[in-house]
Amino acid sequence: MLYRLARTGFFQLDAEKAHDLAIQNFKRFTGTPFELCYRQQLPLRPVECMGLTFKNPVGLAAGLDKNGECIDAFGAMGFGFVEVGTVTPRPQSGNDKPRLFRVLPAEGIINRMGFNNAGVEALVDNVKQANFDGVIGINIGKNKDTPIEEGVNDYLICMEKVYPHAGYIAVNISSPNTPGLRTLQYGDMLNELLSALKVKQAELAEEYDKYVPLALKIAPDLSDDEITQICQSLIDNSIDGVIATNTTLDRSSVEGLKHGRETGGLSGRPLTSRSTQVVKRLYQELGEEVPIIGVGGIDDYVSAKEKLLAGAKLIQVYSGFIYKGPKLVKDIVTHL
Ligand SMILES: Cc1cc2nc3c(=O)[nH]c(=O)nc-3n(C[C@H](O)[C@H](O)[C@H](O)COP(=O)(O)O)c2cc1C
Repeated sequence: MLYRLARTGFFQLDAEKAHDLAIQNFKRFTGTPFELCYRQQLPLRPVECMGLTFKNPVGLAAGLDKNGECIDAFGAMGFGFVEVGTVTPRPQSGNDKPRLFRVLPAEGIINRMGFNNAGVEALVDNVKQANFDGVIGINIGKNKDTPIEEGVNDYLICMEKVYPHAGYIAVNISSPNTPGLRTLQYGDMLNELLSALKVKQAELAEEYDKYVPLALKIAPDLSDDEITQICQSLIDNSIDGVIATNTTLDRSSVEGLKHGRETGGLSGRPLTSRSTQVVKRLYQELGEEVPIIGVGGIDDYVSAKEKLLAGAKLIQVYSGFIYKGPKLVKDIVTHL
């Protein structure tokens, strides 16, 4: 009820202004009586995954809290885990505005943010200050002006900085808004990236006496054969998890709708069934060998359950959370 009222106000604003205002308010409200507006007591539904214990399987997907500024607010809402980022080595402002659009009739979102973020050092400072007792995932990427052939270095820089502070590290090679990024999903480029990350992970595990799992985040716009090849690379390189999926370039489900033709990645309800298909396909290939985190168009208990039945061990929400608010987390967790 409270969220529906707030949403009416927020949805009058430009989408990015609404997002920024929400982040500012969450920051301001943390630790004050206003926190009661969104604090929720949820039952424990523990899940073991990637060697970590999650108090429930519902996480916040990357991109909402890019700089890790309100981890405790999302913790108060009952999320079992919060994935912050995507963060890049150096701060960058992202693409020109406007770059975030609601596709209201379809309950979708199109974004071409382009990894706007305050840089890895600022994110680490914020993560260090968080009191959240759940798992914090840190999603890493590359700066736009780093040539794709040198992209591996950006991931290694981020990995080194975030490693001691992360529950797991998500490797984002699937945003459609950084030119060339998705080419890292294929063949030799993928194997080179994953093997370099594994070497760095082994060094850092020894240095910090702590093993931090690595999860690869992939796009929904992949053929079955491409998914099979990615699965082979995940297994060959002993990657700890896979996150499926990022946003889609496909616009067939929003044709003719306001903002439906904006450039960028589409998320929310129009993505639900495609991302579930990808999770299913991954599960056929990987079985229990590499755990899957399912994300894409989850906006109620039924769509959450579909991802879990398709083979996901954990799930994440972004767009559904924008449309439904904190109650979405409660609805899913209490019904599990
Ligand atoms: C505005 C916006 C920004 C996003 N930024 C990121 C990002 O920085 N890194 C990332 O890995 N995914 C990002 N995503 C993708 C989400 O994490 C998620 O994979 C995708 O939106 C599908 O889930 P959903 O349908 O629940 O939104 C972003 C999504 C949106 C809507």
